[in-house]
Amino acid sequence: MHNEQELRCGDSSVYDRRDALASDAIGGDEKMTHKIQLQVNGRAVSAEVSATTLLSTFLREELRLTGTHIGCDTAQCGACTVHVNGRAVKSCNVLALQAAGSEVTTIEGVTPDDGTLHPMQEAFRACHGLQCGYCTPGMVMSALDLVAHHPHATEAQIRSGLDGNFCRCTGYQNIVKAVAQGAKAMGL
Ligand code: FES
Ligand code: FES
Repeated sequence: MHNEQELRCGDSSVYDRRDALASDAIGGDEKMTHKIQLQVNGRAVSAEVSATTLLSTFLREELRLTGTHIGCDTAQCGACTVHVNGRAVKSCNVLALQAAGSEVTTIEGVTPDDGTLHPMQEAFRACHGLQCGYCTPGMVMSALDLVAHHPHATEAQIRSGLDGNFCRCTGYQNIVKAVAQGAKAMGL
């Protein structure tokens, strides 16, 4: 699965670390918080989080970055995909504590400040790569990681690279076209 690097979704050590951290909290004081510092969309963030707070929850509920969507909360659908240190990661599968010291980018950090769309977002729009749009932020974040590492990805590579992101609307055909067109528009 492409969304799997340092914090790999299918890597059992991630679950082990997450569960160990969480059980520490539950075995101790559930209300205990921990101070974390990280960069989010280029901005320094300092916060107090519980050991069981997911990165997805932290981004949405503490930072109000609600472009990161929650579809399953069990590391299956990819709607919550963000970048951690430049790689696509399912943020429901990572504790906020694990992201301490990291650089996190959400879909809000991809969109230019002037209100225009990033070339990859524009390609999704132009190619009709979305319908309801629920999966789209996660798709775009995964697509950006994919094309950064495979700028001339074949259709098969795109399909394989996005296999951790589910879309219930589009049938994927136009998403695949959008990713290829987005890579070209980015000059890759
Ligand atoms: S909400 Fe994270 S993978 Fe579905
Ligand atoms: S556009 Fe609706 S889930 Fe993908």
